[in-house]
Parts: sequence; C-alpha cells; structure tokens
Amino acid sequence: MDKMWSGRFSAGASNLLDQFNASIMYDRKLYREDIEGSLAHASMLAKQGILTTEELREIVDGLNQVRNEIESGEFEWKISDEDLHMGIEKRLTAIIGDTGKKLHTARSRNDQVAVDFRRYVLRKNLEIVDALKLLMNEVVVVADLHTETLIPGMTHLQHAQPINFAFHLGAYLSMFKRDIARFEDSYKRNNISPLGCAALAGTPHNVDREMTADILGFDSVSVNCLDTVSDRDFALEILFNISTMMMHISRLSEELVMWSSYEFGFVELSDEYSTGSSIMPQKKNPDVPELLRGKTGRVYGSLMGLLTVMKGLPLAYNKDTQEDKEGVFDAVETAEISLEILKEAIKTMEVKAKNMESACAIGHLSATDLADYLVEKCAIPFREAHFITGRAVAKGEELNVDLSKMEYKYLKEIDERINEDVMEFLGLRHSMNARTSEGGTASIRTKEQLEYFKKYLQGAK
Ligand code: ARG
Repeated sequence: MDKMWSGRFSAGASNLLDQFNASIMYDRKLYREDIEGSLAHASMLAKQGILTTEELREIVDGLNQVRNEIESGEFEWKISDEDLHMGIEKRLTAIIGDTGKKLHTARSRNDQVAVDFRRYVLRKNLEIVDALKLLMNEVVVVADLHTETLIPGMTHLQHAQPINFAFHLGAYLSMFKRDIARFEDSYKRNNISPLGCAALAGTPHNVDREMTADILGFDSVSVNCLDTVSDRDFALEILFNISTMMMHISRLSEELVMWSSYEFGFVELSDEYSTGSSIMPQKKNPDVPELLRGKTGRVYGSLMGLLTVMKGLPLAYNKDTQEDKEGVFDAVETAEISLEILKEAIKTMEVKAKNMESACAIGHLSATDLADYLVEKCAIPFREAHFITGRAVAKGEELNVDLSKMEYKYLKEIDERINEDVMEFLGLRHSMNARTSEGGTASIRTKEQLEYFKKYLQGAK
C-alpha cells in the first residue's frame, strides 16, 4: 500500500496491474523535463506565498539531488511507482521529508505530463530541423559538383527528358526545406504552457501561469484547461512531420537502391555504408537506403496508432492517452538516426557521372526538343509536331539509334520542313540547357536554385 493515491483503497494493487498500468519504464526519458517543470512550479508557488522560501530551497536541493541520482544511474526506477512523476516525487519526499509532499499543490499529473511531453516534442521539432539542415548541406555539396552532369529525367520510371544531377538533387532539397517549415510551424503553434491546468478545470490556488510558462520557455499560457490536459495534437503533428519527412527520405532511398544496381550504376555507396551477403561473396548491398525505406513504414504505424488512440476520446484526460509516448519516442529516434546515416551515406557515395551521361543516350530523351523545334522554327502546330516526332522516334527504333544521334537525312525524309539546324536541338546537353524557364533544369537555373538553398541554409528565409 505504498501508492501515492492509496488513500481510498483497502487492498494493494496486483503485480499484474502494476505491470499493465505503468509507464515508468519508458516515460523516464522525460526526467529532465519533469524536474525542470517541478522546479518552475515550486518557484511559482513560493512567489505566490504558497511555499515558504525555506521550503522552496529544500525542494530545489532535493530535486537537484534526484536529477544527479538519475544521471549517475543510482536512481531506482520501480514499476510500482507507476510513472516518472510519482517516482521522482516519492524519491524527493524520501530525501527531504514532508516538504516534498507540498510540491504537488495546484498541480496534477495531467498537466504535469502535458508539460513534460509537450516540451520534449517541442525540443525534438527543433533538433530535427538542425539535423535536416546538416543533411541538406551535404546534398548541396554533392549537387554543386554536378550542375553539368546529365542524367535521364524520368516520368513513369521511363526516360523522359535530360536533366542534370544537381537539379535532381534539388528536388529533394525542396522537399527537405518544406519538412523543416512543418517542424518549425508545429513548434510555434504548440509552444503553449499547460502548467496550472491541474487535473482538468484549473485550480483554486492563486497560481501564476505566466511565470511558469516564462521559466519553461513557453510563448504563452493555454486558453482552456479542459482542452489542454487532453490535447495531444502536438504529438500527432510531430508524427505527421516525421512521417512526411521519412516519405521523402524513402523516395530518395529508393532511388539510391536503384542507382546502385548494376542496371543503373549511377552511384556506388561507400564500403562503410554498405553490407555484404552471408552467402554470396560478390554482393554489396544497399542496406542503408533499404532500411530507411522500411523504417518509413514503422513511423507511419506510430502516426496511425496515436490517431486511433485519440479517436473518440471523451474529455478530458483518459488513461488511453498514456499510449501517446512510445510511438513518438520511437519515431523521433528513427528520424534522428535516419537523418544522420543518410547524410553520411550521401557524403561518402561515389557519383558515377559517366554512367549517368551514357544512360541519357538511350530512350530518345530529346524527342520533346524535336517537337519544340518544329513548333518554333517550322511554325507547325504542337499536336502535328508531336506526331511527326513520333515518326522520327519510330525510325530511330527501326535503325536502333537514339534520336540525339540520328542522321539528318532520315529526319528530312520524315518531314521536309526540317532543316539542318535541327541537329543542334537534338543534342542532349542542348536539350537540358534549353529549359531555362524559372525552376527549370538548365545549368544556369540549377545553379540559381542551389544558391537559393545555400542562402536559406546560411540563415536567410
Ligand atoms: N503516466 C500518465 C500518462 O503518461 C501520467 C498522467 C496520469 N494521470 C492520471 N490521472 N492517471 O499519461
């Protein structure tokens, strides 16, 4: 009967219930946030005359000792304490005596856990932003070297138009920049203090919520206590933000997997970030991007899990909500290691520019350029130009030559309005560099895009 809430009970909890009910084995991760929250709360209680200065001092010293014990590994985490809030408060009271029992005045575990978990999530939003920027920096370094490297641009995974490799990487830079904006928005939107909401309805004690919000780095105080103690939108947001980021990472990973195959041969992942096969001695497997692709599924699972936990919950706090943490911890840790390892894999991979360029010589990548030529130079309507180009492609297939290498005489045979200057238009590099519209692949445009990302990474918006 050593439970903090045991007053109204006559029999102790079963071991089975302890196991089932406890969150302490995972919410202990929030110990720093919990102790900081308690320190802020105690300072406020003292300022409001609810605790004496002497009591505050005892509580502060006691909490600091608890923190030291946790950090040195001395602290005993017990399932029977149920959660970290009670584990820490119990230890505080064991150290400083009855004054420890005053700390929970004007507070409930409901606002306490909302403070701890929200602050953890807020911090992680910002840490992930930093990690994303480091990854983007590495992508920019590779992109900078390849603004002239041709690679087949694809739609439907079929060769479509020649682009350059930096432009291709720039697409991922755009995605990562949007991801960052999402993490930053979530941080701003959710930086609101739950402390002082107590169990659900606020407290009759004369608390100063502004003061604790300020100490804990929140921008403001929440408006409605009933909402605040049951709101887990901030957790759903980080799960969605991570899911979307992982979706982007999985797309890049899929390309890395393909590109490192013999069939593509566009990149070779470094030995450090590749693995071997236990049976086939020749194998060098792209486990890193494969795992990144796979872990994306697991992160989606956490998002779906929490959405489902929250669905239909009546107001306000319900124990179901305790299921909010493990999925978030797992997703956050997955995001952190994923960003780190993807950055290293990109930094150390070899880009096989020659193979990228030779791949462009298959698939008639400059077909659209021939159609554009017919429109521009021969005043042929685009639909007709499209048809004529189709015939040129068919001829190429018949002769087994790529359009970019087809002899002029065959083109003239197809449509006699075609002049010799067409040959320039069919060159692959010309094709890439012709796409000078804003955001296009032309090397000069790609360089502008890289400048934009570099400026952004240096702190401009
Ligand atoms: N361990 C709980 C959780 O993570 C803390 C809040 C418990 N509140 C309560 N009234 N049982 O949600």
